[in-house]
Amino acid sequence: MANFVWTDQQITFGVRDFDEEHQELVNLLNDLCVAIDGDDAEKTRKVYDAFRDCMADHFNHEEQVMRDSGYPEFETHCSEHANLLREMDETSQHLDRVRDKALDMFLINHLSYVLLGHILTTDARYMPHFREMGIA
Ligand SMILES: [Fe+2]
Ligand SMILES: [Fe+2]
Repeated sequence: MANFVWTDQQITFGVRDFDEEHQELVNLLNDLCVAIDGDDAEKTRKVYDAFRDCMADHFNHEEQVMRDSGYPEFETHCSEHANLLREMDETSQHLDRVRDKALDMFLINHLSYVLLGHILTTDARYMPHFREMGIA
């Protein structure tokens, strides 16, 4: 099974805290794929909850820094975060109701696609602002 592989060049925008938090999210996605692939329901739930908590903490951190630094796209960025967390909660409910490895993997792949898309487009847009404000 192919896991996510993110190289330093792809993930590093030059704002250290957020670069590290993004890497941690990718690591947890990899762990989640391994748990699902191993058909380990208990581990899948445990890693999923850790991933969800990590994502919520990361979003709170970004939103705090965006708010404090007067980032002009704050509102639209926050609404993307809220949509992602809603999707996470819907997927969580599915994991509780259905035991289907292929479907679980499909849903996690979809979540990964949406999350990585957010990081590589929406997050990438705040990096010049953060660097300009001296946030590193
Ligand atoms: Fe982010
Ligand atoms: Fe973000």
